[in-house]
Parts: sequence; structure tokens; C-alpha cells
Amino acid sequence: MAPRTLLVANWKMNLGIAESVSLARAIAEGCSGLAQTEIWLAPSFTALAAVKESLSSTPVKVGAQNAHWADSGAFTGEVSVPMLKECGATFAIVGHSERRHILGESDLLVVKRAAAVAASGMQCIFCVGEKLEERERGLTSMVLQRQLIALLDGIDRKLLPNIILAYEPVWAIGTGKAAEVEDIASAHAELASIWMSTGHQQSAPRILYGGSVSPENFHTFVHLPSVGGALVGGASLVAEKFTELAKISEQQQ
Ligand code: 13P
Repeated sequence: MAPRTLLVANWKMNLGIAESVSLARAIAEGCSGLAQTEIWLAPSFTALAAVKESLSSTPVKVGAQNAHWADSGAFTGEVSVPMLKECGATFAIVGHSERRHILGESDLLVVKRAAAVAASGMQCIFCVGEKLEERERGLTSMVLQRQLIALLDGIDRKLLPNIILAYEPVWAIGTGKAAEVEDIASAHAELASIWMSTGHQQSAPRILYGGSVSPENFHTFVHLPSVGGALVGGASLVAEKFTELAKISEQQQ
């Protein structure tokens, strides 16, 4: 059985190769011997192969921060799933809010990415979440439905076991202000209910929370049955903080 809690480090566009390897090693060392917590790291594309190599004797997995749906072709600036697999990636993050809102990726485009990742046998961490203005207008539920139904409509149901959801409210990302435990619980319940109501799966998906996760707030929500782990940005760039998250996760069991 998979460990109860999955902690994923999203390093975003940070760290060169040597820095990434050094942080990966420090995290792997600090997180050794975990019983119920799994550690996955998503370095930049350029550091992926070196980070994978440096972790070969550890249970820590590596993955990418995005992936294209075609295996190869005229897609300047994109990276394909076979290329990622060659580097040792076992998962990819897709539909991150920075891709959706800064780079302009649409619901349909991110679903194409997700379908290709899942079809390859890699795990796909599919991100959803509302912007502040949408939350203030009472549209959170509508946004989550739109983003998740686009996925459920656009992917073969046989591939759903390869999908992990990440609820990342955009207003909580990089702001130092994580969502309140009640907001996390209700968004996760909403996502699970949409997932189940479409009859796609027998069981609810694994859902991670992301947005200013830190050692100071993690204990407030890690124990929720609907929280399968966390997708961590800033705190994953500091080995001691990320290791502390793993320790908190272990204590919650
Ligand atoms: P922060 O943890 O820095 O808020 O970033 C969250 C995130 O975007 C993870 O994907």
C-alpha cells in the first residue's frame, strides 16, 4: 500500500544543477527511514537527470514540472514524456496555476498534457484552484468543477489511477498565507464529490494541498482524511524545512 502522505517538492524555476543535487541529497538524508511518508522532488528540467542520479540509492522519486503531449515534433521549448522518462522522471506536475495564469495555459491544453503523462504510466499531479477574485465572488466551487470536469471529460477513465489532484488556491501560493483548514477540507470534499459523481472511479482520488505550506501550518491539516499530502514550493527549497514537514507527517499517523 502507498504511504499515507505524499510530500512533493516543487522547486519551480530555481537552483542550478549542483545546487539541486546538493538540496536533493540533504532532503534524502533528512528524510531517510520514513514509515508513512513518501518524498517526491520536482527540480527544473535541466537538473532532472543529475538529481535522479544522485538519489539512486534512496526511495525519493523525481519528476518534472510540466510535460508536452506529443512524443516529439515541432514544439519549440517543450519537453516530451519520453524525454522526461529518459531522465528518470516518474511523475509530472500539470496545470500548475503559474502555467495557467502566467503562461496562459487553458483547461483543454493542460488536460492534453495530463492525458499524455497518465497514458505513459507516469503519475500526473493535476493542479486546480481558484484565484482570489474568484473566491471573493463566491466562484470557488464553479472553478473547481470546471477545471476537474475538463480533466474527467478529456481522459480515458482507465488512466485515472495515474492522476493525483493538487488543490492549490492561487491566493495562497507564495503569499505566506495558507488556506484555513476548513477551506482545505471543503475544497477537497468538493473535488472528491465531483470525481465520484461522474462515476469515473470506485474510490476518491488522492488530493494534495498546496499554497504556503510550512512547518508552522502543516500540522493543522495533514491529519484530515481528505488530505493525501502536500505540494510544497518555498519551504521545499530549504532542506531543514522540508525535512520538518516529513517529521510532522510521520507524527500525525
Ligand atoms: P508555495 O509553497 O511557495 O506557496 O508554492 C506552492 C506551490 O505553488 C507548489 O506547487
